[in-house]
Amino acid sequence: MSKLFETTNINSMTLKNRFVRSATWEGMADEDGKCNSKMTALMRNLTKGGIGLIITGHAHVLPDGQASPFQTGIHRNDFVHGLKQVTEVVHNEGGKIVLQIAHAGCQALQRFTCKEPAGPSIFEYKGKVICREITYEEIHEIVKAFGKAAERARDAGFDGVQIHGAHGYLFSQFLSPFYNKRTDEYGGHLENRIRPFIDALREIRKIVGDDYPVLVKVNSQDYVDNGLNIKDMVKISKILQQEGADAIELSGGTIHADRTRVPVRAGNIDTEEKEVFYREAAMAYKEDVDVPLMLVGGVRSYNVAEKLVHNGITDYVSLSRPLIREPDIINRWKSGDHSKSTCISCNACFKPGVKGNGIYCVALKKEQAK
Ligand SMILES: Cc1cc2nc3c(=O)[nH]c(=O)nc-3n(C[C@H](O)[C@H](O)[C@H](O)COP(=O)(O)O)c2cc1C
Repeated sequence: MSKLFETTNINSMTLKNRFVRSATWEGMADEDGKCNSKMTALMRNLTKGGIGLIITGHAHVLPDGQASPFQTGIHRNDFVHGLKQVTEVVHNEGGKIVLQIAHAGCQALQRFTCKEPAGPSIFEYKGKVICREITYEEIHEIVKAFGKAAERARDAGFDGVQIHGAHGYLFSQFLSPFYNKRTDEYGGHLENRIRPFIDALREIRKIVGDDYPVLVKVNSQDYVDNGLNIKDMVKISKILQQEGADAIELSGGTIHADRTRVPVRAGNIDTEEKEVFYREAAMAYKEDVDVPLMLVGGVRSYNVAEKLVHNGITDYVSLSRPLIREPDIINRWKSGDHSKSTCISCNACFKPGVKGNGIYCVALKKEQAK
């Protein structure tokens, strides 16, 4: 049997294979962030399709941390009920599901939050002020909110949480000298820049205990001038290891990176060489870090996934867009049909989500209409 279909454990969570649905904003929640039956149906479909672990799209821990329309929220106790329906269908189908918890920082959208976005420092981009500097009180409030969010996630039946520390969201902004110009205990050297992230991780642990899986997602590099690089990522991962993170997912880029290096890169991945955006970073990680690694970005072929795990480059293979197009691709691969994902990485899947219709593969819909 391929290593891809081995059973493994991440802390108290047992996974039936090494495929992960990487966090993917669904654009399916109600306007206030409450989860509804659209999300339940999606998660049932993904679980039936054979994925070992689902990581939900980013759920904002505070109203002013919202980044996207129709984004799931985890900032209110009354949201637990809707989220429970989601975890129940996944568990009934034999799956596992982790909630990604996030704060957008500078990337929060004022038209939803009705507040000026705040990040580590005042951030100007292309002549426009994007955000103000966050206050000490706000940092403490956010740390507490991550703890509350994890508590709600556990109450809703999630098998764990993943802290979003990638893609230029709040913790990624603190980590990155591109965004973080502070000179206090939250700026300067890496141990300072990682402080809010670690404080949130500790706050979560205090509430959920040692047995509950707490995963993190970080950038392998930012791809911006003076941004985070692979060496920093390895240092960060070692700190996260010491702090008891149960798995680390590597991604990369921010919305301020070059278009070809943003986290969701557009453009057909038509050769095996173009797959695996962060291979070099994964190899550096594996030299120094022992925490199980999830690697996302551009994986489209079974053979590539197989080699990644077989050669010890990663422990888990994460996919996002291939699962939007084909939610049962894992069962197909398991059945012996190893043909590649037909996802063309066009990113048209975002469009229906923005309109409140939920993400789906627009390209596939067009093909089917012909
Ligand atoms: C529609 C869409 C929504 C996404 N939402 C999130 C998200 O909520 N959190 C996150 O960490 N990454 C998000 N991503 C990024 C993916 O997790 C993944 O890192 C990226 O798409 C590259 O992987 P892929 O080539 O398998 O699609 C999203 C991607 C897409 C296409």
